[in-house]
Amino acid sequence: MNMVIVSAVLVYFLFFPTYPTFLPTACGTATTTTRARRLVAKLIHRDSVLHPRYNPNDTITCRAERAIRSSKVRLTYLLQHNLRGTTYSNSGIPNDRDAIWDPVVADEGLMFLANFSIGKPPVVQLAAMDTGSSLLWIQCIPCTGYLHPSTPIFDPSKSLTYANMSCKIFCKNLTRCQCDQFDHVTFRKRYVDRTNINGTMATEQLVFDTYDEGKVAVPNITFGCAHVIQTGLKRGSWAGIMGLATGFRSLARQFGNRFSYCLGNISDPTYNYNHLVLGDGADLQGYSTPFETIHGHYYITLEGISIGETELQIDLRVFARTSDGGGVMIDSGTTFTFLAKDAFVLLANEVTNLMDGIVNRVKGNNIHPGELCYNGVVTRDLVGFPVVSFHFAGGADLVLDPASLFYQRTMDTFCMAIGPDSILSGNYIVSPFTIIGVISQQNYNVAYDLEQKLIYFQRIDCELMTD
Ligand SMILES: *[C@@H]1O[C@H](CO)[C@@H](O)[C@H](O)[C@H]1NC(C)=O
Ligand SMILES: *[C@@H]1O[C@H](CO)[C@@H](O)[C@H](O)[C@H]1NC(C)=O
Ligand SMILES: *[C@@H]1O[C@H](CO)[C@@H](O)[C@H](O)[C@H]1NC(C)=O
Ligand SMILES: *[C@@H]1O[C@H](CO)[C@@H](O)[C@H](O)[C@H]1NC(C)=O
Ligand SMILES: *[C@@H]1O[C@H](CO)[C@@H](O)[C@H](O)[C@H]1NC(C)=O
Ligand SMILES: *[C@@H]1O[C@H](CO)[C@@H](O)[C@H](O)[C@H]1NC(C)=O
Ligand SMILES: *[C@@H]1O[C@H](CO)[C@@H](O)[C@H](O)[C@H]1NC(C)=O
Repeated sequence: MNMVIVSAVLVYFLFFPTYPTFLPTACGTATTTTRARRLVAKLIHRDSVLHPRYNPNDTITCRAERAIRSSKVRLTYLLQHNLRGTTYSNSGIPNDRDAIWDPVVADEGLMFLANFSIGKPPVVQLAAMDTGSSLLWIQCIPCTGYLHPSTPIFDPSKSLTYANMSCKIFCKNLTRCQCDQFDHVTFRKRYVDRTNINGTMATEQLVFDTYDEGKVAVPNITFGCAHVIQTGLKRGSWAGIMGLATGFRSLARQFGNRFSYCLGNISDPTYNYNHLVLGDGADLQGYSTPFETIHGHYYITLEGISIGETELQIDLRVFARTSDGGGVMIDSGTTFTFLAKDAFVLLANEVTNLMDGIVNRVKGNNIHPGELCYNGVVTRDLVGFPVVSFHFAGGADLVLDPASLFYQRTMDTFCMAIGPDSILSGNYIVSPFTIIGVISQQNYNVAYDLEQKLIYFQRIDCELMTD
């Protein structure tokens, strides 16, 4: 990769989560690091004022319902996908015979949109960041069928840096590489919602912002140019999907095997500091935990959960990795967190006890099966509520304060943002599984090092990483 690298001196203020106190206390440890210039893509949440489909009239209830629906859809996909398994061909390019089912394309998807540009002159694109798939594809001209992206559709004929990938060269030694009559490598993707995408593989330059308001162009990135889109979707908002899993053609692989994202307050539509960093400039900070990929998903080892100072007595076998997708997955596209049922029950009991006398349980709701809901307002009524900590192998923790443990369901009720894996019981579940969703990753920088196979968690305000 011929990246233009300019050293920059950046000062980080590292914030360490303090023990179950409730106001995050800054220890103010400052370190100075010299780094590569960072390739940054702003991440835009579905409820953000920057999102193309932001609607100021959306109520709290409406946003919560959207998050519930989309989490269930994403869960369905993840489980179906695990049961089917994924067989990537050695080209790393998804094609018909791989018959993989990828994340739902539906606009309900709450995946973060990554803002970057492609081509020369650069054209802005918003692609959904997905740690569960391994190809960057965007919609291209000419196109049959549309996702109706909010950004201009990329026209390869207007870019000086676009190149088709030649089958003769690229597919020479590869099995299951598919070609068309023009000697171009083709790709095809099918999604859970039956959206079909096909197109040609190509190379292009991608252009990213840097924190000092500069731009860096990275040449020769392999991506999929989608020319045929069959979808029932009426209103899209994004141009494609940015795959960051561990497959051969993943952007993560093409950018030096590392990336990091930082997520702040997702309930705040004006929060403007969520971002993704690709490549050497990724922020590999904090404690790390080893990961393993199964069916293209990132699995980590959960060794315990505590609430306040109470360690839950969980039989750790419920977190064991199994070949059918059981285990603990971290995901960038599920809003809520789902816990293996036996662990969920212990956590829910403890939460129920702690809530006793503080707020009233909302009984008999069918809002979100198995979920704990209460009358009240998270930011008003839960001041002083103990944090919940997920303890991962290697000493990395995710600490959930009330705004990560609960979400406002309506104006005057809130619910636990963690549900049991049995929410989809019957159809897909073979082994207990746990999915660490976006809501639990709020206020963290999460970094992926594909070479060392480590994921880093650093509790931080993303705003502090932007200067
Ligand atoms: C929001 O509601 C106002 C008043 O009902 C309406 O005029 C406006 O079109 C709505 N905006 C959107 C984006 O739906
Ligand atoms: C994406 O980034 C470009 C350039 O940095 C900016 O002009 C544009 O407003 C951004 N789009 C959104 C939706 O934030
Ligand atoms: C890429 O292939 C298409 C035909 O599939 C062709 O029209 C176009 O000119 C090619 N682009 C380049 C830069 O070779
Ligand atoms: C390509 O094919 C040749 C001959 O079959 C083989 O010796 C070589 O190892 C292959 N290279 C790769 C990268 O698979
Ligand atoms: C892409 O879709 C078109 C129209 O459905 C079809 O003719 C073509 O064969 C497809 N290409 C691939 C690679 O699947
Ligand atoms: C582009 O990258 C591929 C590997 O992904 C490499 O084989 C090719 O030589 C590169 N082309 C240029 C012009 O750098
Ligand atoms: C997150 O955003 C919501 C909505 O703007 C706000 O009420 C809440 O106080 C914010 N939380 C934090 C910790 O800033």
